[in-house]
Amino acid sequence: MINSSNPPKPVGSSSPAAPVAGIDAQTARATIDLAAFRRNIATLQRHVGGAEMMVVVKADGYGHGMIECARAARRSGVGWLGVATPTEALQLRQSGDEGRLMAWLYGVDEDLTPLVAADVDVSAQSAEQISRLVAAAGTAERPARVHLKIDTGLSRNGMRVEGWRALCEVAAEAEASGALEVVGVWSHLAAADEPGHPSIDAQIEVFEWATAQAADAGLRPAARHLANSAGALVVPAARFDLVRVGIAAYGIDPAPGIADLAGVDLTPVMTLQGQLVNVKTIKAGDGVSYGHTWVAEKPTTLGLVPLGYADGIPRHGSNAVQVTVGQRRADIRGRVCMDQFVVDLGPAAADVVGDDVILFGPGRDGEPTAMDWARWCDTIGYEIVTRIGVRVPRRYVEEDL
Ligand SMILES: Cc1ncc(COP(=O)(O)O)c(C=O)c1O
Repeated sequence: MINSSNPPKPVGSSSPAAPVAGIDAQTARATIDLAAFRRNIATLQRHVGGAEMMVVVKADGYGHGMIECARAARRSGVGWLGVATPTEALQLRQSGDEGRLMAWLYGVDEDLTPLVAADVDVSAQSAEQISRLVAAAGTAERPARVHLKIDTGLSRNGMRVEGWRALCEVAAEAEASGALEVVGVWSHLAAADEPGHPSIDAQIEVFEWATAQAADAGLRPAARHLANSAGALVVPAARFDLVRVGIAAYGIDPAPGIADLAGVDLTPVMTLQGQLVNVKTIKAGDGVSYGHTWVAEKPTTLGLVPLGYADGIPRHGSNAVQVTVGQRRADIRGRVCMDQFVVDLGPAAADVVGDDVILFGPGRDGEPTAMDWARWCDTIGYEIVTRIGVRVPRRYVEEDL
């Protein structure tokens, strides 16, 4: 039994992190097409016109590789990058990134000094966070750059309307003391990917009220930002000074039909690929994988793909998802396991060990897309790509733009 006054010590907490044992790149890999990424960014920038763009690279660049995507975005002239955590922001700074960079989610015990010292813009949603930023600015000997967050209706992060004016006044006082500069007022949309959802106009209205209150309290934030990808694509009134674009930059629709509705053509950036590491025939009546949730009605050929749920292949994809093998679709049969899954190559298959398997990609050659996988697994494209695990090697390609 664990005694709460004497909690167990985390094992090995003081030793450096061991390298992750991965999968050989010949066996499986995610190819990241940075040219497509940069084309998507250029397309989105044209689409949002005068608004600036923040490309969101949190969660390891939505599974695509944070540092490589950040560098590619900067090469495309992107002024702002966005991440959730201080650690992500500091990793970007350590990688040499020097541009505008914002971090918006941190815990109660995190020291914000390194962020301020590294010239990272930080979100604040409470007087308590403002005072921590003032203290951090004192230690770092430079003013903190702060974006005040209002909860316009998502009921997630952000100060509620009732406390907003007081927060602006606390921030204005700290600004007058020289400890910080309020450079942004921001919020996040709840349902921008559902055109016509009543929350969209309601949130815009609250956001406009909040920026007016901030001005009234003497604040002059240059960056008012509310829109995510869906907002940037289909809610022009939500664009304000800056849009925070994540998923669309990676070429994935925030929800089916949103990019089409905006008249914007996006190319999925990630292609996930494996190879057949075993091929064999089974007879009618043979059950496949754990629990025998699929049983062959007639003889067929099975191929084994060495990627599993530990690599982000959804277990919900069991008996539900397709891949391509040799230009044709093949169904996953039975349960997706931790490291591997089985596909049905058909009774007369000529496929051999070593043949390529495309799990998803841009869809140009008939392969499924991450959005197809999302539909089959009853989830969203975001989850499909961000969950591709650390064992899967990323390979970066970029033809000339
Ligand atoms: C606060 C915030 N802004 C912007 C984004 C980017 O959203 P999207 O990937 O839908 O563009 C996210 C991502 O979840 C977010 O948490």
